[in-house]
Amino acid sequence: MPPPTSDPPWKAAWDDALYGAAGFFRRESPSAHFRTSVHASPLFARALVRLVREAGLDTLVDIGAGRGELLRAAHAIDPDLDLLAVEVAARPDDLPDGITWTTALPESVEGVVVANEWLDNIPCHVVEMAPDGVARMVHVDARTGTESLGHPLTHSSVPSSISAWVDRWWPLDPAEPGTRAEVGSSRDTAWADVVRRVTRGIAVTVDYGHMLESRPPFGSLRSYRDGGEVDVLPDGSRDVTAPVALDAVAERVAGTVLTQRAALARLGVVGARPPLETAASDPQGYLRALSSATEAGELTADGGLGDLLWVVSVVGEVPTTSLTG
Ligand SMILES: C[S@@+](CC[C@H](N)C(=O)[O-])C[C@H]1O[C@@H](n2cnc3c(N)ncnc32)[C@H](O)[C@@H]1O
Repeated sequence: MPPPTSDPPWKAAWDDALYGAAGFFRRESPSAHFRTSVHASPLFARALVRLVREAGLDTLVDIGAGRGELLRAAHAIDPDLDLLAVEVAARPDDLPDGITWTTALPESVEGVVVANEWLDNIPCHVVEMAPDGVARMVHVDARTGTESLGHPLTHSSVPSSISAWVDRWWPLDPAEPGTRAEVGSSRDTAWADVVRRVTRGIAVTVDYGHMLESRPPFGSLRSYRDGGEVDVLPDGSRDVTAPVALDAVAERVAGTVLTQRAALARLGVVGARPPLETAASDPQGYLRALSSATEAGELTADGGLGDLLWVVSVVGEVPTTSLTG
């Protein structure tokens, strides 16, 4: 029997749109299109440098490093750290010599590995409950964004790992046609592949996501371009992203989940304003402290970056840190 649609499944179209030969992330700088914690403030890098040093380590690896913003800040804070950026895009010309740049994951790492807003850009399959109560693969025309339903998950051409993941992590109700799941197994596998390379250290993935009790019922695919949200389209002209099922990721890597607000508080980033009295006695110090409090406030904001989730895995014998203790 011919397939129900000739369009590719979402995952294939998404992969091509972001990472194909002319893919979005091969040419575009993330910071030109959206703002992450590493753009918001060097306090984010300061917290990670503190984590590295508290753990008695001297290496920080950034997976999906953008244009190296996090490691540039880390280098300025602690020039003695070994810094490795892993990124599909080419090394920026102005990157300091003290930062190593590679497109391939390192074979092994002893240190802290961080991935900030990386997993949400790992393409995944999308499935939808059809009107007949059968969950099917969702396909998409990459030029128009028009979707069509493909084979049922039980079809011999659909890997059984897809229905196994959906049953466990994002079950769909046959009585609720139109409900969807974004199949996070590709994210789980991508992060597990990073964590297994850590011989001793701490692995941290940070992303916006959801847990079993709060999945978005109709899916959550989004696109961004030039700083704003635009129609979702996997044609390479824009970012394509979907929040991550971070409980599934955490289970795969024996990780602990906490909010960025809680994680950064443990690492000394709090948004408290300096006492007003110091404005008169030390105006410059007051302004510096105020600016730092404002940046910390953005990193930890309710309804904003503070709601991001950290999945933290400790590998091997590592001294207790304020994050992991
Ligand atoms: C959303 S951006 C985040 C950039 C940066 N970490 C930040 O917080 O601003 C995701 C980045 O991951 C990169 N990326 C995606 N898959 C990758 C892979 N397999 N290896 C290396 N980099 C990858 C993309 O090119 C992109 O720069």
